[in-house]
Amino acid sequence: KRPAVTVIGSINVDMITKTTVVPDQGETVLGDEFHIKSGGKGANQAIAAARLGAEVSMIGRVGKDAHGEDMLRVLERESIETAAVEKTDGVHTGVANIIVSNNDNRITIVPGANNEVSRDYVRQFEKKIASSDIVLLQFEIPLETVMYCLEVCEKHNVPVIVNPAPARDLPDDYWKRADYITPNESEAAQLFSEAEISGDLADKLVITKGEAGVSYSENGESVTVPSYSVTPIDTTGAGDTFNGALAVALAENESMTSAVKFANAASALSIQKFGAQEGMPGRNEIHAFLNDQ
Ligand code: RIB
Ligand code: NA
Repeated sequence: KRPAVTVIGSINVDMITKTTVVPDQGETVLGDEFHIKSGGKGANQAIAAARLGAEVSMIGRVGKDAHGEDMLRVLERESIETAAVEKTDGVHTGVANIIVSNNDNRITIVPGANNEVSRDYVRQFEKKIASSDIVLLQFEIPLETVMYCLEVCEKHNVPVIVNPAPARDLPDDYWKRADYITPNESEAAQLFSEAEISGDLADKLVITKGEAGVSYSENGESVTVPSYSVTPIDTTGAGDTFNGALAVALAENESMTSAVKFANAASALSIQKFGAQEGMPGRNEIHAFLNDQ
């Protein structure tokens, strides 16, 4: 049976400017390249899971504008269920303005319709959430909605992965409702004390550390699964690919070690193509990649 994955999260249009010179305050510079790509942490994770064969439903919102139409079509092309993605009046589709310079990414997000993914909006889809094998949440929708989703998952005993990106704090008792929390290293440092990392939250945290691999704890011992070394073209969406793949593997009852290996491989493949969603692999590509290692 294909795992049923529900993603409640953001849908953005990524407006990417590549430039060697980043403007100072009040300055205008000439950039090198401009690209418009589909993105948003929610949509990215949904697509990563769908390409790996999961039955994915997305709960989110876009604006009633051309970008919204485009983003809906992108999700549909990936066979993602979009019945719970509403075109919303009076707001624009979420936008991420990404400035890529030499070794640096600067991102400004204007949430638009993502801010309308409210508790009341999500409440209509409680049945969908309850019938999922696993739920994925990120922090590009209102935090009170994230909290509500955690309550719904707890009520229906649905395992949930919280990807706390971008980093924003949750009340302690909400972190405890998550089954897995997947910050990167800097989000982990911003959000959690050493005591939480090695204590209360130790058995939930799966910390992605880029080239240094992925750490989690098993029977009280910290385990680090190394990452694969590849030459990156664009690391945007690497974490999203990791989370989508991790969700699929965990829903298929893989052990944490093999789920992390699988997700690391997915992420290594994804960063070899430009754009958050380009390069997200199918299962065959992952198996071929792992065979070559
Ligand atoms: O995680 C990558 C995503 O973050 C981009 O696609 C962009 O939309 C931002 O939300
Ligand atoms: Na990519």
